[in-house]
Amino acid sequence: MTNPAHLAEFQECFGASKRIVALVGAGLLASSGLPTFRGTQGLWKNFNMIDLATPDAFYIDPGLVWQFYLWRRHQALQAQPNAGHLALAELSRSTSKEFVTITQNVDGLLGRAGHEREKLHEIHGSLFDLRCTSFTCTYVDHGNEDDPLTPALDVPEEYEKSQSSSLPKESESLSVMDLGQNVVAPSPQFTAIQELSVSELPLCPACQSLMRPGVVWFGELLPLRVLDEIDDFLESGPVDLILVIGTSGTVYPANAYVDLVRSRGGAVAIFNTDIEPAVMRGELERTWGFQGDAAEWLPVALAEPKK
Ligand code: OAD
Repeated sequence: MTNPAHLAEFQECFGASKRIVALVGAGLLASSGLPTFRGTQGLWKNFNMIDLATPDAFYIDPGLVWQFYLWRRHQALQAQPNAGHLALAELSRSTSKEFVTITQNVDGLLGRAGHEREKLHEIHGSLFDLRCTSFTCTYVDHGNEDDPLTPALDVPEEYEKSQSSSLPKESESLSVMDLGQNVVAPSPQFTAIQELSVSELPLCPACQSLMRPGVVWFGELLPLRVLDEIDDFLESGPVDLILVIGTSGTVYPANAYVDLVRSRGGAVAIFNTDIEPAVMRGELERTWGFQGDAAEWLPVALAEPKK
């Protein structure tokens, strides 16, 4: 919950800010019905990330890893961008502010919400890119939304039904004072359905090697081109404000951007269901906390203040 004076103070800063960065994590997906990673309802609750999101995991059992990513692609394609995605997309089209979004999410919902592509930096890649695993082949399939990707990777109907019963219901509209009260429903959990051989998985049309999801796994380097584009923005002038949206801030380098902006005098606004009490009490200089569902808070906070 945040009091109206706090919101007004943030909006004054937002209105005056010329250069803004949004750092986005899985919390923005919650009200679109997609799971976060950590916490009691997170994806890493039932599964160890080492078994699903590392190069070793893919080497040991590509069928298991592909089922995990197929399941996530399927869910992402069924999900709709929420009001938080739309508010960021609108900001990306602003002509009076320089704005970029750095997202750790791989679901494509910001793009589907109409976020300007060149201002959207997907540092963990995309569920809808496929890359050839051969060292000698550079084939990449961008923006492939086929579902299923191969006949063997189809999600059986019974499995889908059992999953959709646990999806969150659409939330009711709330007043500013109520926003912090919104609780997002439990997320569905992944279960591997079958053992698959390599020949049943996506193969490279150029060289017939196994394709892999175009996401960044633990232990891998982030895409240098994307990091360079972000650096160009950060180094080409001071950032007045960073919006830190639905991220636990546990993964480098995403978490370092907040410290960088703050250390150079930029303001910080946090949108999260779980915010440090000191931030909520307003004890950190030029730092505001909007506690609750980011999808509900963002359109309110980024709206033109009422005169
Ligand atoms: P996490 O699951 O670590 O954190 C999600 C954050 O969102 C938490 O701080 C929650 O309190 C908050 N949250 C949950 N529901 C929310 C809501 N409705 N509104 C606002 N906030 C909400 O997800 P990330 O920080 O995105 O990397 O995780 C970072 C990276 O770690 C991911 O990209 C992924 C993961 O392992 C890879 O897979 C490489």
